[in-house]
This record gives sequence, C-alpha cells and structure tokens, in this order.
Amino acid sequence: MTIQALYSGREDYWPAYQAALEKAFSTHGLDIALTRDAAPQEVDYVIYSPAGGLTDFAPFTKLKAVLSLWAGVERIIGNTSIQVPLCRMNETGLRDGMREYVCGHVLRYHLGMDRHIHGATWDGITPPLARDRTVTVLGLGALGQACADALKGLGFNVVGWSRSAKDLEGIECLHGNAGLNEALPQADILVTLLPDTPATQNLLNEETLKLLPKGARIINPGRGTLIDDDALLVALDAGHIGHATLDVFREEPLPEAHAYWAHPNVTVTPHIASVTRPETSAEKIAENIARCEAGEPLLDVVDRTRGY
Ligand SMILES: NC(=O)c1ccc[n+]([C@@H]2O[C@H](COP(=O)([O-])OP(=O)(O)OC[C@H]3O[C@@H](n4cnc5c(N)ncnc54)[C@H](OP(=O)(O)O)[C@@H]3O)[C@@H](O)[C@H]2O)c1
Repeated sequence: MTIQALYSGREDYWPAYQAALEKAFSTHGLDIALTRDAAPQEVDYVIYSPAGGLTDFAPFTKLKAVLSLWAGVERIIGNTSIQVPLCRMNETGLRDGMREYVCGHVLRYHLGMDRHIHGATWDGITPPLARDRTVTVLGLGALGQACADALKGLGFNVVGWSRSAKDLEGIECLHGNAGLNEALPQADILVTLLPDTPATQNLLNEETLKLLPKGARIINPGRGTLIDDDALLVALDAGHIGHATLDVFREEPLPEAHAYWAHPNVTVTPHIASVTRPETSAEKIAENIARCEAGEPLLDVVDRTRGY
C-alpha cells in the first residue's frame, strides 16, 4: 500500500524539498505519496517544521512518526497531541554548515581579524598559535562534536562539555555541574551548541559568566535562551566578556531596539549559522521511513523526558 507523507514546512522551500524527497524515496525503493495537503487520517509520516503551522496532530490517527526538519525541537516537544515518536534532524548538510560557521568565527577571534579589517594599524601583534588557545564547546552532540573535531584539527586546545560523560580522542571531555565549573575558566573562546531545555535555559548567567577568563569571547549558534541577555550585556560593558557573536535570540528577528544591535562588542548574525539542506535531509528522512517500515528503530528520536 502506498505510504502517505505530508510536508508541513516552509512554503517557499516546498519545490526544493519535493524534488529532493521524491528522489530520495525512489533511491530507497519507497512507494510514498508526498503531499502538502492530505486527509489527516491517511497520513503515515509528517515532515515537520514550525513554519508549516501544524499544531494539532490528534486527527492524524494512523501517524507513525513526526520527522522534524529542525535539529532544535523546543517548539514541538511539548505538543501533547503527538503520540508517536518525534525525530529531530541530524544530517550532514546541517552539520557541515555549523562546522564552517563556528570555525570561521573562532578564527576571526583567534587571528584578531577585526583589528586589521576595521583599522589600518601597524601594531605588530602576532596572534598566538591555535595550540596556545583553548576553545570550550558546550554541547557535544551531532553539531558540537563536529565543531570540536574541526577545531581540534585546526590545532586548538579543545574542551567539550555535555550532560553525559564522553570520551572523544584529543578533546578534554567534561560533564555535569562540576564539569561546567572546570570547562568555563579554560575558555578563551566559548561556543554554545546546546538545545533549549529547562535545564539549559540561562546557563550563561551572571554567576557562570564570571567563571570565564577576562576578555573571553562567546559564539552562540545554539539557542537564545542559553544566555541571560542582561547579564551578558553587563559583562560586555564591564569588559569581562571581550566580544560575543550571537546567531540566535529569545525573540527572532531580533527587535530593532535591542541593545545587541548597537553594541560595539557584539556581532549579530540572523539565525544563519546553519540550515537543514533539502538534499541531505531528504536522504535522512527516507532512511528513517525505510527503517520504520522495516520495523527497525528510528534514528534521532527525541527523548521527551530529557527535552531534546
Ligand atoms: N543557529 C542555527 O542555525 C542552528 C542550526 C541547527 C541547530 N541549532 C541548535 O543546535 C543545538 C544542538 O544541535 P545538535 O544536533 O548538536 O543536538 P544534539 O545532538 O541533541 O546534542 C545536544 C548536546 O547538548 C548536550 N546537552 C543537552 N542538555 C544538556 C545539559 N543540561 N547539560 C549539559 N549538556 C547538555 C547533550 O549532552 P549528551 O551528549 O550527554 O546527550 C549533547 O551533547 C540544537 O538543539 C539547536 O538548538 C542551531
């Protein structure tokens, strides 16, 4: 019987996703009717992003899984009308984009590029080598690990922090509250790649920001809720935090009047650190549907008790 998949994502992305998904379904030998408008009771899989506007999954009586196009699932995880597995997006295009964004911004700080881009000075200041600089990565999941590995490959001394203990070659892995207290003081540059959960909200606050070395730089492509904005602004004004590159915010687009826009030591990027790419994500979605149809466990299932 033909499987029904409903695309409920950004309308302007539909042509790209339609082409990529149909190609991937065919590669996996899946007979799937992909639509944007199906009778809910006939739908087997929903391919979902918040932009699609779908909130009530109760009428989807034969649903087998909700396949998120986003890695961050904070806007759907609490939806109690979903009674089936929810899978987050974990795909190579998203991962590669994040790795490039993070390495680019880390190198900007490391090499002191702004000094020469914004002012022609013959200051003779040579940047240290990467091996003399520590980058701490908060979150060692699909994206954090890829960034930590790439930074290690560039020669940086990399410290990583996660909820559970990890053992990653060449990376000092820390976890839990005690681990955070060890990870932050080492961070010349701090990268935050944690999900938005009750446990991570305001993780960077007045107290934890003080644990960072004076002049530390912060790159946040994770989620806006990870940072207490007022505390960060105070730490920036006091010079305790040297600079922050922020890609994600509590309110997006970042309101025009927000202090971050005009702050001399803040770079705002408009939630572009990385996006899910149609071709590579379609491959992942097809793989997951094929697994589900074969009775195999789905990949990247969200743990609702952990919150990510
Ligand atoms: N700006 C953008 O363009 C963009 C694009 C994509 C994603 N994102 C953000 O990036 C986030 C990370 O994505 P991902 O795919 O790497 O997620 P992931 O694979 O689920 O990894 C999450 C990591 O965070 C750790 N973590 C979660 N809660 C924690 C806690 N309370 N204390 C310590 N560590 C904790 C996890 O620890 P364990 O390893 O122990 O589970 C894991 O290492 C997403 O949730 C999303 O918010 C942003």
